[in-house]
Amino acid sequence: MRTQVAIVGAGPAGLMLGRILERAGIDAIILERRSADYVLGRVRAGVLEQGSIELMDEVGIGQRMHHEGLVHHGVELSFDGDPHRLDFQHLIGRHVMVYGQTQVTHDLMDARAASGAQTVYAAEDARLLDFDGEHPRIEYRKDGVTHRIECDFIAGCDGYHGISRASVPLGALETFERVYPFGWLGVLVDRPPVAEELIYAHHERGFALCSMRSPTRSRYYVQVPAAERVEAWSDDRFWDELRARLNPQTAAALRTGVSIEKSIAPLRSFVAEPLRFGRLFLVGDAAHIVPPTGAKGLNLALSDVRVLGAALVEFYGERSAAGIDAYSATVLKRIWKAERFSWWMTSLLHVFPETGAFGRRIQRAEFDYLVGSRVAQQSLAENYTGLLD
Ligand code: FAD
Ligand code: PHB
Repeated sequence: MRTQVAIVGAGPAGLMLGRILERAGIDAIILERRSADYVLGRVRAGVLEQGSIELMDEVGIGQRMHHEGLVHHGVELSFDGDPHRLDFQHLIGRHVMVYGQTQVTHDLMDARAASGAQTVYAAEDARLLDFDGEHPRIEYRKDGVTHRIECDFIAGCDGYHGISRASVPLGALETFERVYPFGWLGVLVDRPPVAEELIYAHHERGFALCSMRSPTRSRYYVQVPAAERVEAWSDDRFWDELRARLNPQTAAALRTGVSIEKSIAPLRSFVAEPLRFGRLFLVGDAAHIVPPTGAKGLNLALSDVRVLGAALVEFYGERSAAGIDAYSATVLKRIWKAERFSWWMTSLLHVFPETGAFGRRIQRAEFDYLVGSRVAQQSLAENYTGLLD
């Protein structure tokens, strides 16, 4: 097979890149290791920044999002039960949208299926070859048969555990990492959300988050030690722990039920540099991971894609390599700002066993400063709703 851009991974990054290229008349094939149903079954991010909302519109798939997504003008932060609402609209005139990653992926898959563009699911053992020269190619297996794709460029959109970053020669890549000693235990439940907006709660027992997917479906998380096993958490134990970390009024309003999904996600900060090797680009989670506290992972993946998509359109349309040459440096600037914000939100809201009583006093002071300072609130609001560049 021959294509212009071979995309590895049909997560939100790969599918969105495919959509941008398709609209510009650039041919692309997406290779995905899993099935479409498996990809759609992964419950992940829930909040879209304004830039991501705009990108969905620009590529012509925003209709269902505007119909079913929930516009949020603020969030609540709470510290040991003291609540404080941040009004993004009032502070900086911006908002976010609650629209799950599975819905974004669904909309992108539907659009791709309607256009007839090719996605190969269940593509095994992809090998990325010769991307340091003019003629990169990918070999993979499907149904026991080996296939080969020749292409101009490879976009590595295959997530943290993918093959793209692992294909870069040792020594060509510098990585920066922080692994946190805790994870998030998440539960999805078909009950109305406890509040209209998200609640991020710091408590001495650990962090908790009240989020949602729709007016009838809620998503809740509690901080747990990194080594915790999901089997140790019955629904009852989860609800008791969540209630204990919320302020009493919120805890009393919580509508519990049988969980329809329960999983633990580890928390990590990670960046690889640079993000281009010859004709291979690293995009989204393949290039960087943020802890979910700032709701940035999906949004950052989409902002990488916006830059790479524009660079490839410029390459084919104007025969200019300026965009692809600048890709790595351009996106890394934004990536590091999102890393900083995600690290900061994580540091403020979680319990860090190693920092002791001093650390908790500092966190309380940070919260009190935020509550008392409109400038500090604007900074949080600006970062949460998405930096403009
Ligand atoms: P992915 O969504 O990981 O997609 C990569 C795709 O590549 C996958 O479909 C994978 O199957 C495929 N692939 C991998 N290897 C290969 C291969 N060798 N060949 C072919 N295909 C391959 N962010 C938030 O903002 N909020 C959250 O609550 C949140 N929760 C998360 C929970 C978990 C468990 C994880 C892992 C992430 C979470 N994130 C969250 C982050 C967010 O979901 C990601 O940032 C987002 O999925 C990144 O999109 P992506 O397309 O870059 O990568
Ligand atoms: C979610 O709804 O899954 C979610 C929302 C906000 C976050 C992280 C996860 O910061």
